[in-house]
Amino acid sequence: MSSPVISVEGVGKRFDSGTVALANASLRVAHGEFVALLGPSGCGKSTLLRIIAGLEQPSDGRFEVAARPTRAGLPPVGFVFQEPTLMPWATVADNVWLPLRLAGQSREQARDAIQAQLRSVGLAGFEGAFPRELSGGMKMRVSIARWSPSPGCC
Ligand SMILES: Nc1ncnc2c1ncn2[C@@H]1O[C@H](COP(=O)(O)OP(=O)(O)O)[C@@H](O)[C@H]1O
Ligand SMILES: [Mg+2]
Repeated sequence: MSSPVISVEGVGKRFDSGTVALANASLRVAHGEFVALLGPSGCGKSTLLRIIAGLEQPSDGRFEVAARPTRAGLPPVGFVFQEPTLMPWATVADNVWLPLRLAGQSREQARDAIQAQLRSVGLAGFEGAFPRELSGGMKMRVSIARWSPSPGCC
């Protein structure tokens, strides 16, 4: 097997409250592999994903993400939360722009990438809409478009 893009070895997480959310989790994900984490509510799925995305520090174990930042300077890991977490005051296009903006791209520089991302989730034509004008599923698709720029787009 080729070297994994994501490798997690013996990762554990104990929160300050004393809750052990995760113990001895190990996982390897190869390039192009599609992996789903399944388990009962509260078993530590989100905690593991947050650790891999760098949003949480593990208490034990090691993990490595062997991917480079994208050409736009975005971090190599995108993260779509369970809630769409869109900015209600910003248009669909401006919401998708957020990570590109944080990576230093002007709205004009990011224009093609934003269009490509919205097309990829079936939301071409909704650039100027506000989150309140979208259905729940459409909001989630904007959230996916925002955090997962396709490799060729930017
Ligand atoms: N920030 C936190 N502080 C304390 N406990 C937490 C925190 N986040 C999650 N937990 C606890 O860790 C356990 C695993 O949570 P989580 O990873 O969200 O589970 P899952 O995504 O599998 O439903 C739960 O018992 C939850 O209450
Ligand atoms: Mg969860």
